[in-house]
Amino acid sequence: MAYSSKTIASWSVIVLILVQFIPLNRINPPASSKIKIPYTITSLLKKACYDCHSYETRWTRIAYIAPASWFVTGFVSSGRTALNFSTVKSDEITPLLAKKIRTIVKKGNAHQQLYHLLKPEAQLSTSETELLLKWLESLLTTRENSV
Ligand code: HEC
Repeated sequence: MAYSSKTIASWSVIVLILVQFIPLNRINPPASSKIKIPYTITSLLKKACYDCHSYETRWTRIAYIAPASWFVTGFVSSGRTALNFSTVKSDEITPLLAKKIRTIVKKGNAHQQLYHLLKPEAQLSTSETELLLKWLESLLTTRENSV
């Protein structure tokens, strides 16, 4: 049985509509972290880093409109690859990782400028930054002492 071009055209339209529902990487898999971080620190990380470095991304509206959605999901995907607070286990925050995080925290808005432009509420205040740096220092001291 031959399909008419009309049938093919209508199926193509249906398929095109359906692909819009492919979730890309815009999914938040269940978090399995055993990480033990003080609550105050977690809330700072959630505010400033979790959108790209965890499975608890708060997807903004832009993440649902192509083609912007491809960039957003791409950023989150590479962010999660570089560091994912949802899967890291507390013993895996190695001194090296703690130092890397410290570098990024010190950089402030210079890390992911576009994001901070679009989402100024994710910015850490000076005192919040100091709190994070203090936590990292204490983490580094304990780790280095236990090695
Ligand atoms: C808008 C998304 C986004 C946000 C928000 C974000 N990051 Fe990143 N981060 C990335 C991406 C993408 C990479 C990988 C590419 C790169 O290094 O720039 C990355 C890389 C990193 C790395 C690895 C660097 C290395 O040398 O391996 C660390 C550590 C890091 N981020 C920490 C943080 C911390 C801490 C915060 C919060 C204060 C944060 N990031 C906020 C997207 C983000």
